[in-house]
Amino acid sequence: MARYLVTGGAGYVGSHTVLALLDRGDEVVVLDDLSKGHRGAVAAGAKLVQGRCDDRAALADAFAQGPFEAVLHFAALSLVGDSMRDPMRYIGENLGGVAAVAGAAAKAGCRKFVLSSTAALFGFPERIPIDEEQRLEPVSAYGESKLVCERALSWAERVHGLRFAALRYFNAAGADPAGRAGEDHDPETHLVPLAIGAALGTRPPLTVFGTDYETPDGTCIRDYVHVTDLAEAHLRVLPLLDHRSVRYNLGNGTGYSVKQVLETVGQVAGRPVPHAFGPRREGDPASLVASSARLRADTGWTPRFPALEDIVRTAWAWHAAHPQGYGDRTTG
Ligand code: UFG
Repeated sequence: MARYLVTGGAGYVGSHTVLALLDRGDEVVVLDDLSKGHRGAVAAGAKLVQGRCDDRAALADAFAQGPFEAVLHFAALSLVGDSMRDPMRYIGENLGGVAAVAGAAAKAGCRKFVLSSTAALFGFPERIPIDEEQRLEPVSAYGESKLVCERALSWAERVHGLRFAALRYFNAAGADPAGRAGEDHDPETHLVPLAIGAALGTRPPLTVFGTDYETPDGTCIRDYVHVTDLAEAHLRVLPLLDHRSVRYNLGNGTGYSVKQVLETVGQVAGRPVPHAFGPRREGDPASLVASSARLRADTGWTPRFPALEDIVRTAWAWHAAHPQGYGDRTTG
């Protein structure tokens, strides 16, 4: 048993990772300002320190609950479109958060750090599937913000001996199979919850962004990976940090088109997803599919829920049980 600090533990991937840590008997302190996360998403077994990652007093409070075996840093701004309206905010806040938390960790003698990174590092990729050798060339300020975070951590490693794992998530989706947590963003921009909301009637009909991509059915292809599998990957990389820093692409390795996702949601819902076809969304690559071969080989990680239907089914169950999400949303 060990104790972990999880920033952003009230958010989507963070809350599922907190559950995974608690389930294996670890202790968890969550640092979250609840600006995007939800109090109701913080598992009862975890202790919540409410505050921003760049707030010295909040950080001091959080680290006073240590010592921590590692810090898992999820807290960040994460909307690609939003980042193109306010790029300096994204780069400033995301880098500032990493710098503050990694700096405090090193000072407290905690030298293991897991960073939520993103497939957005790769921009418009050269080859599919995307392995770790591909060039890092973000096409959004969000992607750039995570790239500078990864680079910043290599300085913490060089100077403070802090070892880090950068996990480049592809499309996180689904919900805790036991129904204890789910996905609730405000605003919601992600395909799976929007499609489910449209089928449930809690959200408007979905607009498919573009039907003229160079893909078999003309709609974009993405690699949807179950959030519980993502969480498990965090646990798997922790032992590696005894020896070295690592960077991994993290996805299922199978791509599904927007139309395939809508069909699957329709099957699970037992009724078609109301939708219309619209123009492309700026900045969307035609296809993003991960090669997680390196992660699998180094850690033995393998997804427990690789089938899109299982991903959608768990998400559907959570949304059907929580039509208003965690119930603290202020807008649509
Ligand atoms: N889509 C629609 N209609 C919608 C919403 C999405 O057609 O209303 C499409 C998008 O165009 C895209 C696919 O569904 O082709 C998936 O879109 P999401 O917004 O769910 O996810 P993204 O692939 O755009 O973004 C995800 C993460 C980001 C990350 C990015 C990496 O959410 O954090 O992958 O490229 F940066």
